[in-house]
Amino acid sequence: MTVQLTTEHLRLTPVDLDRDTPYLHLAYRDPAVMGPWLDQDPTGSPEETRRRIADRGSLPGACQWSIRRRDEQEVLGLIELIGATAVPGLSWMLRQEYWGRGILGEAAPAVADHLLGPAGLAHVEAWVDSDNPASAGVARRAGLTERGRFAQAGRDGRPRETVIFGRSAEPASAVVYAVEVVLPVRDVDATVALLVAALGGHETYRHGEPTRRAGLRLGPWSTSPGVQVAHVVENAVAPCTLYVHCAAPVADRYARARDAGVNVVDEVQARPWGRTEFTFRLPEGHLVVVGGPG
Ligand SMILES: CC(C)(COP(=O)(O)OP(=O)(O)OC[C@H]1O[C@@H](n2cnc3c(N)ncnc32)[C@H](O)[C@@H]1OP(=O)(O)O)[C@@H](O)C(=O)NCCC(=O)NCCS
Repeated sequence: MTVQLTTEHLRLTPVDLDRDTPYLHLAYRDPAVMGPWLDQDPTGSPEETRRRIADRGSLPGACQWSIRRRDEQEVLGLIELIGATAVPGLSWMLRQEYWGRGILGEAAPAVADHLLGPAGLAHVEAWVDSDNPASAGVARRAGLTERGRFAQAGRDGRPRETVIFGRSAEPASAVVYAVEVVLPVRDVDATVALLVAALGGHETYRHGEPTRRAGLRLGPWSTSPGVQVAHVVENAVAPCTLYVHCAAPVADRYARARDAGVNVVDEVQARPWGRTEFTFRLPEGHLVVVGGPG
């Protein structure tokens, strides 16, 4: 899959550790590259750089290309298909002195076209921090469009919003747009009002008099994640648990939920699985766990 690719000004060649490490080390030793790229510390020596490149390159499915000007030996940066990911993922970086000259914007489309064409991949995606407009620009240049966002904690504990960009070999409409829980409750209106007050969002539809069914989006957009609320007459409702992924700080969500008068059963706490969470209970016993990166 890692064949040489050429563009108008660039030559992308499979990484050769002996030849390319001294150049790539100039990026690997630079915190301004390693922070936004991999959220890692810079390397302290060419040997460590070599080891880290080799480790990434040895993951199943990984492909790494060094980026050069067409008729020069000097390596300016690297673009790779990350190994061992559930969805094939692209990643890129450039030595700092070459930023902003259109280099990755020229290299990334060639790699995406190759992977989705001759290499036979059905989809590729790239994860880009929302505060990295240059990388988002590269993704767009490569024909990737935004598919969603999520929040994760950085190495320093700081929350980072990550945007997922993606492109398919065959342009096609999504088959599944969302999966939603249908929450059985005795009083639909009261539950919708409580969830909106506690979590934010808006009602999207309401059916019946009294209300038998309602839809809720837990954000400002028509595509924000949602839940449906359905009326049940039985007294015995099997309780379920909703997990609401939210942006940090979770403490702000907690304050809002408290103000809405929810029945808190677990206060805000940092969990060993890397999430900060609190839990409240709805009248029928359903639990709502609200979690985020910090
Ligand atoms: C991200 C990075 C690879 C971009 O490469 P680059 O060669 O400088 O990017 P380009 O010059 O080709 O620019 C690509 C697009 O982003 C835009 N862009 C570049 N720098 C920008 C900036 N600082 N702010 C806003 N837009 C920017 C360009 O205008 C271009 O957009 P266009 O297609 O609409 O013209 C480079 O900045 C880098 O190595 N950063 C550190 C590592 C990193 O962040 N890796 C990505 C992690 S997801």
